[in-house]
Amino acid sequence: RPRVLSGIQPTAGSFHLGNYLGAVRQWVALQETHDAFYMVVDLHAITVPQDPAELRANTRLAAAQLFAAGLDPERCTLFVQSQVPEHAQLGWVMNCLTGFGEASRMTQFKDKSAKQGNDRTTVGLFTYPMLMVADILLYQADQVPVGEDQRQHLELTRTLAERFNGTYGETFTVPGAYILKETAKIYDLQDPTAKMSKSAANPKGLINLLDEPRATVKKIKSAVTDTGSEIRFDRAEKAGVSNLLSILSTLSGVTIAELEEKYTGKGYGALKTDLAEVMVDFVTPFRERTQAYLDDPETLDAILAAGAEKARAVAAETLAQTYDRLGLVPAK
Ligand code: TYM
Repeated sequence: RPRVLSGIQPTAGSFHLGNYLGAVRQWVALQETHDAFYMVVDLHAITVPQDPAELRANTRLAAAQLFAAGLDPERCTLFVQSQVPEHAQLGWVMNCLTGFGEASRMTQFKDKSAKQGNDRTTVGLFTYPMLMVADILLYQADQVPVGEDQRQHLELTRTLAERFNGTYGETFTVPGAYILKETAKIYDLQDPTAKMSKSAANPKGLINLLDEPRATVKKIKSAVTDTGSEIRFDRAEKAGVSNLLSILSTLSGVTIAELEEKYTGKGYGALKTDLAEVMVDFVTPFRERTQAYLDDPETLDAILAAGAEKARAVAAETLAQTYDRLGLVPAK
């Protein structure tokens, strides 16, 4: 079985629809066909200030949502990044393999640090991509299911894997990005040219999976659409409608072409009503399942600990080989 690896940050409150459609949905499908490793990346989260109690709660909440979304501990390995110390260890090696200028060109770092200002930007945020490279290479992953915004980090992963292999001999699998065209980028409902994100300018543009279903319905009904009334997929001319069509198509399993056909002669209202219904059908059981996992934190922690143990077996082997190739003397 080919292997996949991916990660998600623990965020306050809930995952958003972009996280789910861009990544988590694929994680669930890939556990059937791949040897799958997924993690909650708490070490990435601390690149910006975190309240300790909230971070702990959000990490468990993230895991609960992933299980509620359909990850199955019998079919995949889900763990918390900090419970596998090899991530930080290989991360250091990757830092030492990366040029300062090369790291400075990472666009997510440039955007985030520009917003925060130099004195509030941590060195951790700067080295974040190299930790992500380590996350992936430790598992010798063949494919990495992510949204479009992670593509540049995946490119860096390939570059560093090849660089290490070229210098020290074949050590790492060079992974590919697994990015589905239709859901690579889910857009903000109020500004359909911007990606949906927690830092949305207008909270109405962001669908949080754990929001009250009624709030979600409202957000869908007030989504920005385009001039004209025709329902057709056209990112350039009809960004808002196209976004709603991709979301509905993915959640309902009906192709975009079939949807265009179905809504011929109908207005935007009909599309929004149907999408709202499909969303409610999705989030209602999702919320219940998430709560059920949260209600039993001991079981949740035990499943995560078992996941970390499985992950660690793989990660430790890769790290030992890497250290050996580098010429580090092992303790006997
Ligand atoms: P994070 O936590 O920001 O996002 C988790 C996943 O959700 C995807 N995503 C989206 N996809 C489509 N449309 C959107 N609007 C949207 N917003 C978010 C992201 O692309 C991502 O796949 N650096 C990563 C976490 C990470 C990781 C890794 C991923 C750490 N180590 C190793 C893969 C492999 C991040 O911050 O994702």
